[in-house]
Amino acid sequence: MENFVFHNPTKLIFGKGQLSALRTELAAYGPNVLLVYGGGSIKRNGIYDRVMSILREMGKNVYELSGVEPNPRLSTVNKGIEICKRENIDFLLAVGGGSVIDCTKAIAVGAHYDGDVWDIIMRRVKATSALPLGTVLTHAATGSEMNNISVITNWDTQDKVGWSSPHVYPKFSILDPTHTFTVPKEQTVYGIVDMMSHVLEQYFSKSPNTPVLERFCESILRTIVETAPKLLEDLTNYEYRETIMYCGTLALNGLLGMGMVGDWGTHRIEHAVSAVYDIPHGGGLAILFPNWMKYVLDEDVSRFKQLAVRVFDVDPAGKSDREVALEGIERLRAFWDSLGAPSRLADYGIDDSKLKLMAEKAMIKGEFGGFKRMTKADVFEVLRMSL
Ligand code: NZQ
Ligand code: ZN
Repeated sequence: MENFVFHNPTKLIFGKGQLSALRTELAAYGPNVLLVYGGGSIKRNGIYDRVMSILREMGKNVYELSGVEPNPRLSTVNKGIEICKRENIDFLLAVGGGSVIDCTKAIAVGAHYDGDVWDIIMRRVKATSALPLGTVLTHAATGSEMNNISVITNWDTQDKVGWSSPHVYPKFSILDPTHTFTVPKEQTVYGIVDMMSHVLEQYFSKSPNTPVLERFCESILRTIVETAPKLLEDLTNYEYRETIMYCGTLALNGLLGMGMVGDWGTHRIEHAVSAVYDIPHGGGLAILFPNWMKYVLDEDVSRFKQLAVRVFDVDPAGKSDREVALEGIERLRAFWDSLGAPSRLADYGIDDSKLKLMAEKAMIKGEFGGFKRMTKADVFEVLRMSL
């Protein structure tokens, strides 16, 4: 294993009816709360009213930043920072999915920084402090509710960039699976693909001696493969929503990285595609991941074979390791197809005209990939395979 330090300070509050914990959690902070949310789903499903009634009951002064976009934009982050500075905000409450939470994290560091928050996102400047934030998660996907990562799009320069800071772990996150009942089928699929991709990004690792972590990964993947089709037939089933929500958080809260260094190349490539075409993150991953897998297969065929056998029940009898590995990749593709996920860039109307631009965008912070080091030419090839 790799040496590691694990420290995740986010208090996770999980289960039906747990929204009431907001009272206790917010009691420790000052009166001025900035409520951050997206395009209105929380108003339609009643979560907004429930949150507001708790905040009002507590006598909080509530300010609002609404309209956070999927693939949240720097311009929206800047609006939030302005409110924080103007109104002397004490606490940021994100109510939504990964985009709302990521936007809130960027507001949190920007509120404590006099320069342009993009400096922090581009890692030219290190954040030294942040406003405290908490989350009420409404969509299972990113794991942002229990990590220190955020991804922000600068639409002016068409760059989508991931960054992290120890100062942006949520103080608490409230995860009530019933809050995800209204997530539409298509969006639910994107979330499922995203969390599976987070596991796969970490599973494809060259760190030695990681049997426990590999099995953690495999158990999360198997559980999702078993649960997702049932959930898509029954979107308001508590137990299926609960299982998927739990998987989403465990996939990217640091657990799987305890001693194992992952790859994360496909995420870099997907962010470049989203930066140029503004497509849903999970949709992009569904297209790119199996192609990345085929492209890097020979880095370590045995890991691919293990995935095929242990997660997708491929029978290895009479087949070469490479054949088994390839069959595993095909099973993953077929599984995502069965959920209705996209499989080609053409599904989003993307042709070959901007492949070079996307390959350049992917290199914004240089070469990447813990399992397979990717150059611009490698990225171009994966994109070409994905057309
Ligand atoms: O905006 P509203 O109206 O709320 O609707 C949202 C949005 O349209 C809707 N939604 C959320 N909860 C709902 C709901 N609709 C009905 N009922 C509910 N309960 O879902 C749509 C998508 O929401 P979004 O937050 O964009 O999705 P997701 O959670 O997948 O987040 C995606 C963003 O996270 C980044 C992605 O790149 C993308 O920008 N990522 C963040 C990571 C992190 N912080 O750790 C890691 C990931 O790999 C990822 O890159
Ligand atoms: Zn992701």
